[in-house]
Amino acid sequence: MRFWLWERCRVNSNVVCMISTRTVLGLVRRTGERKISMSKLLRTGLNAGDSAPLTVVGGEGVYFHLEDGRRLIDGSNTGGGLGHRHPAMVEAIRRAADTPVVNEGWTWIGREKAADELISTAFKGEEDWVGAVRFCISGSEANDMALSLSQALTQRTALATRERAYHGLVGLSRSMTVQPHWHGGLAVHAGGSHRPAAMAPVRILPAPDGAIYGAPQNNPSAKQYLADVAGTLSDTAATIIDYTQGGIYYDGEYQDELALRAREAGSIWIADEVVTGAGRAGRWFAFQGAESRPDIVTLGKSLGGGAAAVAAVVVSKAIVEQLKGKSWQNYGTLRGHPISMAAISAYLRVVTDEDILSRVRQLEGVFARRLLEIARRHPSVKRVAGQGLHWTIELHGPDWRLWNADTDEEPVASRVALRALEAGAVIGTSGEQTSLFLAPPLIISEDESHQLLGALDHGLHAADEEHERTLRRAAVQ
Ligand SMILES: Cc1ncc(COP(=O)(O)O)c(C=O)c1O
Repeated sequence: MRFWLWERCRVNSNVVCMISTRTVLGLVRRTGERKISMSKLLRTGLNAGDSAPLTVVGGEGVYFHLEDGRRLIDGSNTGGGLGHRHPAMVEAIRRAADTPVVNEGWTWIGREKAADELISTAFKGEEDWVGAVRFCISGSEANDMALSLSQALTQRTALATRERAYHGLVGLSRSMTVQPHWHGGLAVHAGGSHRPAAMAPVRILPAPDGAIYGAPQNNPSAKQYLADVAGTLSDTAATIIDYTQGGIYYDGEYQDELALRAREAGSIWIADEVVTGAGRAGRWFAFQGAESRPDIVTLGKSLGGGAAAVAAVVVSKAIVEQLKGKSWQNYGTLRGHPISMAAISAYLRVVTDEDILSRVRQLEGVFARRLLEIARRHPSVKRVAGQGLHWTIELHGPDWRLWNADTDEEPVASRVALRALEAGAVIGTSGEQTSLFLAPPLIISEDESHQLLGALDHGLHAADEEHERTLRRAAVQ
């Protein structure tokens, strides 16, 4: 059997693998379309469009090394908090390879150690409420576990999130991913989608807009946004909120109001910190900026320093109390694997020793200032929002609600990303048509940050050209 797969632009991911190291066996052009005869690897459709392949052969620090000799700044890799081949991570993994194979049912000293270190390092100061941790493999899995645990505890089925959210594509996390193009099914290139059914009734709450550029003039307060949610939450098992997706970032007032409303409704509040947790927000967790504390926190992505696939569900003391006298009938063979546990311990050590959180906070100011200045110069930019080392640049163009990725046409955001490659950086899109995001390794220097922002600046000319064409077309109609 032979697979013909679309070669997607590897710079387009709000998720993980942005550039694949797969072997490209050949290129074929048919009726103007580039198709690639590949190995037996079935790939994800990260975005619509048809772009030249990039093949990564190595990396170091904040750089990818490509097969053709180029070195590109890795500008949007939420899974790679410490960049590529951080020596402490490499050493930790090397040592961990020399350990026994234990499944989640076995007690493993390294797992106990990672749990203790996570709680005593990242949750330092949170002792009043933090209870216990369970490890797993991906952010999607962590969210599925947290959501199904909430259903079991409350004996309710419905679940709530905010609009434009992404919580993963596994189990219940897939149902709670409400960006229209991320449904876990099939986008048909000639138009249309084959979507799997949701696994639970999904309630969608309004989202705040705290953009530093392009926020609506009369942005309502959190209380106004959430004025009518009591009815929406009344039968929900959980309310899950993340702090980046769709370019919607942390808003302390919104968080506190939502926490209150969820508690009043008996809905378990899950903070999805898969992207923001473990340092990217400039503190260990985004939720720490406000008064309220979640019932459950989910972590993933950077937690293993990019060196292992690992995630976690952290529950409050109150949830631990509710679990007494019960066993959580949920199991995964490779969860808590010795290599993943070693990666967590090493990551926590590096973040502390290298004072990564202060560095992120300092760079947040650099990104905010420069992005504002860039936005003002590029008429195609509609909105800029962000926190720490995660920033979204949203472009003028079709409404995100109408985007289903069911086309071969290259979205404008992908064209910006392609143009940015010329200036030496890989910039991701969220899979949305008009949205780009920056999430470089937390070890990026100020000079490298300016290079990355310069590449974005260069890439945005592609969006300006498109914007100009659209305005001209509108003027003649
Ligand atoms: C907020 C959020 N939650 C959960 C996930 C899922 O994580 P993973 O892709 O590791 O399963 C993602 C992935 O992008 C995410 O952005």
